[in-house]
Amino acid sequence: MSDTSPIVQRKPSEFAVPAGVFAETVTSVEHYTDRLFRFRITRPPSFRFRSGEFVMIGLPNADKPVYRAYSIASPSWDEEIEFFSIKVPDGPLTEHLQKIQVGDTILMRKKPTGTLVNDALLPGKRVYMFSTGTGIAPFASLIRDPETYEKFNEVILTHTCREVSELRYGQELVKGCLEDPLVGEFANGRLRHYTSITREDYPTRGRITDLMVSGKLFDDLGVPAINPEDDRGMICGSMAMLNDTKEMLEGFGLVEGANNKPATFVVERAFVD
Ligand code: A2P
Repeated sequence: MSDTSPIVQRKPSEFAVPAGVFAETVTSVEHYTDRLFRFRITRPPSFRFRSGEFVMIGLPNADKPVYRAYSIASPSWDEEIEFFSIKVPDGPLTEHLQKIQVGDTILMRKKPTGTLVNDALLPGKRVYMFSTGTGIAPFASLIRDPETYEKFNEVILTHTCREVSELRYGQELVKGCLEDPLVGEFANGRLRHYTSITREDYPTRGRITDLMVSGKLFDDLGVPAINPEDDRGMICGSMAMLNDTKEMLEGFGLVEGANNKPATFVVERAFVD
């Protein structure tokens, strides 16, 4: 079970906020399972980022706060910043972070970065966003950004988790996206959400890599197998998932890109695990 005792926190008035760091306030917290939660913080007016980037965050509960990389799950136009996090029982940051409450302070380094950005991909007909677990976070940002739909006709978000309850964040995210007055106009009919589960009963079972090998992913979506003319890929998950999915995309003829060298797929680790 999660530890729900409050964290010992110092308020910004009780410590010197280090240079290069914002001290922001938690505005909402939602727990999905014993392992997963989402929280939102205020956004400093001067903080700019590209949808899909990550930033280092920490807590003001020590003289030398522990920082970890977190993908920003909100789009670049949002007034707040959202994060989707795992709870690691003895994780140096998440063991405390999982106890945050509205009004608490989060430290956020000022410089965002990352490769899961539209700029690192060449335009294409279809973009696949392959995620497992909390690897959905950067895509939560990208599927809510109108720019994604300007660059690609079709956006296919795949999310594979161990258990069905772990899909809820993504299911609510996609529903909210389609119903949103701003983004819904772009996303309706063009955003597709493909979910699979590996350790419980579910209509679609199996790892995304296996679903590509068997061709089930493409059959279910009614699209041709991935090809470098039409398709682009973004990958976010565990190290093993990244390596296997990357190898598969390379097998389909896609080439890894970067900010300074856009190509047909990009990769980033879902950091905190
Ligand atoms: P599995 O249950 O077969 O390990 P995790 O929480 O360990 O990051 O796993 C999240 C999801 O990613 C699980 O459904 C898991 O499947 C899947 N997964 C783990 N390793 C790989 C991999 N190398 N390639 C594709 N999917 C993977």
